[in-house]
Formats: sequence, C-alpha cells, structure tokens
Amino acid sequence: MKIRATKGLTFDDVLLVPKKSPVSSRKDVDTSTWLTPRIRLRIPIVSANMDTVTEAEMAIAMARAGGIGIIHRFMTVKQQVQQIRRVKRAEGFMVERPYALPQSASIAQAQQIMTQRDVGGLMVVSEDEELIGLVTQRDILLAPNSSAPISAVMTQPEQIISAGADITMEEARRLLHKHRLEKLPVVDEDGSLLGLITAQDILKHNRHPNAVTDNSGRLRVGAAIGVQAADMQRAEALLNAGADLLVLDIAHGHADHCIEMIKNLRAKFPDAQLVAGNVASKEGAYDLAMAGADAIKVGVGPGSICTTRIVTGFGVPQLTAIMDSAAGVKAAGRKIPIIADGGIKISGDMVKALAVGASSVMMGSMFAGCEEAPGATVIRNGQKFKVVRGMASLGAAMGRKAVEGPQDESAEDPEDWDKVVPEGIEAVVPYRGNVEEVLYQLVGGLWSGLSYGGAFTIEELQEKAEFIQITPAGLRESRSHDVSKV
Ligand code: XMP
Repeated sequence: MKIRATKGLTFDDVLLVPKKSPVSSRKDVDTSTWLTPRIRLRIPIVSANMDTVTEAEMAIAMARAGGIGIIHRFMTVKQQVQQIRRVKRAEGFMVERPYALPQSASIAQAQQIMTQRDVGGLMVVSEDEELIGLVTQRDILLAPNSSAPISAVMTQPEQIISAGADITMEEARRLLHKHRLEKLPVVDEDGSLLGLITAQDILKHNRHPNAVTDNSGRLRVGAAIGVQAADMQRAEALLNAGADLLVLDIAHGHADHCIEMIKNLRAKFPDAQLVAGNVASKEGAYDLAMAGADAIKVGVGPGSICTTRIVTGFGVPQLTAIMDSAAGVKAAGRKIPIIADGGIKISGDMVKALAVGASSVMMGSMFAGCEEAPGATVIRNGQKFKVVRGMASLGAAMGRKAVEGPQDESAEDPEDWDKVVPEGIEAVVPYRGNVEEVLYQLVGGLWSGLSYGGAFTIEELQEKAEFIQITPAGLRESRSHDVSKV
C-alpha cells in the first residue's frame, strides 16, 4: 500500500494566473487542435459517445461547428453504420456511391427509391458500374406510363456532363453554373461512377466555413466500439462506412484486454485513427500509448452522471489525471494528443483542461440538453428538460438489452436486473436550444481564456500556463456572490 504525497486536484481547486498578453483582439486567437495525429479540429470540443448525447444529428452539428461527435456504441452494428452514413451524407461536395439503378428499372421503381431515400435524382449504371444515364424527379414527374423503363426518360449518355475524380469544389461550382445543372456525376477514366456533386451540397458546404471535413469534403465523425471479440467486426463495418476514427471505449481502459484490443485493431487496421481509454494515471496513458493508440481519453469518474468513485472508491481528480496522463504519453516517447473526458461544467473548466495538457475535451451533459441530442424533451413545472444517463446506469443497461437483444453476451439478463451494480445515474438537464449556441459560449470563453493566458494558440497556452491552488474562500470569490441573481 502507498499513499501519494501529492494532492489530486480538479478544476475547482485551481485558477490560471493571468499572463502578459500580446493578444489585442480575441478574434486573433486560433482554437484549432489535433484530435489525433491525423485529425485536426477547429475547436477543441468533442461530444461524448453516450446514448443521450451523440447520434448523427449531434455529430453533424458538432462537425459543422468545427468540433466532432462520437457516435455511441449501444446499438446494433447496422444501426451504428447507418448513423455514420447519415453524417457522411449530410455534407460534402461529393457524395460517394450515390444511389444508382439499372436502365431496365421502371419509372415507378425510380420514384419509389427517390421517395424512400429522399433524393431528387438517381444515377443509371450498366452491369459493370459504367454511368449511362441520369434520372431526376423532373424527368419522371408527368411520365404517362410508370411501368416504362427509365431508359425512356433518362438523360442519355451523350448528353451527360460529368467530371473526373480530381475535380475541385471551385471547378465543380463553375461547371454546374455554366451548364445550369443541379447534379454533376463524377466518373473514373473508364466511365465508372465514383460519386455525385450537387449544387445543394456546394451551397451547404459554403454555409459552414468552419466545418471539419475529410478529403472529400464530408463531415468527420467518430464511432465508439467495445473490447469484445465481435467488436473487431463492428470496427471493420464502421471504417467501411467512413468513420474517421474509432474510440475504444471502456470505463477502465488500463486493462490487459484493452491493450490487447488496441494491438489487434492496430494490426488489422494499420491506417485507422484509434483513440483508447479511459485512463487516469501516468502508467495507464503510457501503456495505451505503447500499445499503439493515436490519442488517449482521460477520465475515471469525473463525469456529471458518474458514480464510479462512489461505488468503487477509484478515480483521480480530473486536473491531476490529465496532467499525469500527459506525462505518461511523453514518457512513452509518443507525440499523441490527450482528450480530457468528463467533469466540464463551464468554459473555464475547459480552458484549465487544455492548459494542463489536453488537446481537446469531451463533454456529455453539457450537450445532452441540446435540441440535437437524442431523446425527447420533457416538461416539468412549465420548464423544458432533456434526459441524460450514465452509460453504466441501470436505465442504460436495460435500454441496451432492448436494442441488442439476447445475443449480446455482455448485456445483462433481464431477470437479473437487481444484480446489476450501476456506476452511473439517470438525470435531467435543462433544455438548452441548439448546440451551436452552447458551442458559441464555450468557444467565446476559450477565446478570452487564450487572451488571459497570453497565448494565440492552445499549445502556447500550455507552455505559458501557471496554475495557483485556491481555497474554498477563493472558489467562493470566483463565483458571483453577495448579490441576488435577477
Ligand atoms: P460529463 O461530465 O461531460 O461526462 O457529463 C461525460 C463522461 O462521463 C463518462 N460516463 C460515465 N462514467 N459511469 C461513469 O463512471 C457512467 O455511467 C458513465 N456514463 C458516461 C464518459 O466518459 C462520458 O464521456
């Protein structure tokens, strides 16, 4: 047994000492950061992989604003793949694998697919995927015979205007305008269909200049997986669907089975970006970094809905956990980012997490009250709320069972619910409107925080940061006091 000589500190235990600042306007600062060695965010904010926080709608909003969302894993592989696809199709100046059908398909079938998929046009391809036509709502709208083949109404091969795979967004915009087109198919040298650029997608792209996108202009998104053997297939399906990173997410990530899983994933998917966690110690971060993780997620028990520390007695106050984990990554000789996960209540906590060594922060309950979070809004005493629940809460375990069914060995047996030992709670948070507004306040706090820290960038903030430990009186002084709030 040993007791550490140093105290464990968390956000409320410290303040940052203001530094002489060269920043004259907070608009001069740069909030961009590395999520993993290959993924750059414009704001250092990640929405948590929780079933009351991040599904496609939240991930779309996060990526459009410059952050990223991680789709939770408490759904079937098929459902999670669909969520990733929804994000990937939401924006991007080129849709990969657009909906296509053979020329023998009937007008009625084309109509049905367009309605089901909510698209205004379909590509027509030969058996070997060569683009031979294009059919839009306008082509079939007043067609007299809906059982006729689409070859009768489609744009014929010689009339198609298409582009090559290396077309830029600006060139596509020019072509679409010049020919007054709405759709521009993209083909390879053999004429095989590769993708589709639409005028709508270019417009959407321009509306979100801060969006975090991949090389095809599609929004970036992450997906969580577990450590069961079946998660290797889940990982493969998610990567094939376009997930930009995988988050190997278990409560106690400093475990042999987690390390083994990182090594297996690394061997099978050498190019994938892998985030692993959660850990809260130098040794934990060191081991996951050595196993091949591309970023380390830090936090054992700081979360708003977590009871791990109460139930098990384990955890490390979050500021110390981040600092120790950063030291662990350094000791491993790897320059990989830290993601501080949990316990962020206000923008100042985020600034402290970044200053002490995190490159980005993950938040759950901060976003659970947003319109884009899954789940309905409930009204209590005339006020709007949304539900947030810990992923180790009893409610989440029951929900998981309902979705995954009895084939999942990790799920609890319905008859044994009283044997579940929850490490999380279910709660409500006030409804907070659109996530964009919440992010604006958070990022505004970071802009000012950088300015107080005398830093133009997050890296500079880390270099210059000096923390001072405060007393309960200092904490009281930090908050509004001795006035009645209006
Ligand atoms: P915040 O404070 O942002 O924290 O709401 C979100 C993080 O909390 C973790 N999490 C849990 N931790 N029991 C726990 O001990 C749980 O049931 C639980 N559910 C989520 C997770 O790391 C999340 O990102």
